[in-house]
Amino acid sequence: MTIRHFLDIWPLEQAELRAILDEAHRAKKARAGWSKGRIDLGAPLDGHTLAMIFEKASTRTRFSFDMAMRQLGGSSITTSSGDMQLGRGETIEDTARVLSRYVDAVMIRANDHTDIETFAEAASIPVINGLSDRSHPCQIMADLMTLEEHGLTLKGARLAWVGDGNNVCASFIHAAAKFGFSLAIGTPQRYAPDEDDLDIATELQGRIELFETAEEAVAGADVVIADTFVSMGDLDAERRLEILEPFAVTDELMELANGGAKFLHCLPAHRGEEVDAEVIDGPDSLVWDEAENRLHAQKAILRWCLGK
Ligand code: CP
Ligand code: NVA
Repeated sequence: MTIRHFLDIWPLEQAELRAILDEAHRAKKARAGWSKGRIDLGAPLDGHTLAMIFEKASTRTRFSFDMAMRQLGGSSITTSSGDMQLGRGETIEDTARVLSRYVDAVMIRANDHTDIETFAEAASIPVINGLSDRSHPCQIMADLMTLEEHGLTLKGARLAWVGDGNNVCASFIHAAAKFGFSLAIGTPQRYAPDEDDLDIATELQGRIELFETAEEAVAGADVVIADTFVSMGDLDAERRLEILEPFAVTDELMELANGGAKFLHCLPAHRGEEVDAEVIDGPDSLVWDEAENRLHAQKAILRWCLGK
């Protein structure tokens, strides 16, 4: 039987991705008003345990996956890779084989995307990408859920990404064709998206436009998306802050987007760097629903991975 890994959005069928989002919406509504620790009806992942391995820091991913397993009636084990024998040179493959004997699924946050792929190849259980240097697929599922929840029809919508063409941007690029939205990306040339991700979009017939100013990217956009200028693992912080400064999302920039355009940011945010407080704390910002929906989207991803 094929193991259902969730490593990236682009390899998945459109219908599977749609079903995951539909389930996320359904399950969120079904528990509206409940206390957060209450188990969903039927405890869909009763008897299942998720292991989470973190090579870098996390707030949302760590807590939302843990609560996701609790709400689904399962359990989770969280560890940092440095606390494992991985940190002393045990191979990724051996670790994957061993964990496959203990738990039902593994979520990994890694510096190097290929390490997650290597783990998945050796594992006999589903593996989920909880962010790598190359992508952040769970985040984008939550983001798309949030936009739908606020009434946006993804098919035909125009989303604008401004700032660094990073891992989160890459997952939006992968998702564009799958959900039928167009993506306008404004980045300085130096921090433009990876050619490999643009090639994937071309292959999938995704509508991606590249610009070298934030103003051009947000013109006519229904949604404006930002992320930190300095991601975990970036070593050129000073240069990034200087080169990316003109790509900050300000009230003036939001004025250039469509009336009522929404603002997304995966968080953590740096007010006064990539986004002004007036925008992220303003009425068109969806960031708190976006953060909450990590939980609901991931519950649906976990159920899809485990076929439950
Ligand atoms: N957005 C996100 O992945 O947040 P954390 O780094 O806190 O998990
Ligand atoms: N691009 C950011 C996202 C954090 C959730 C990073 O990789 O640090």
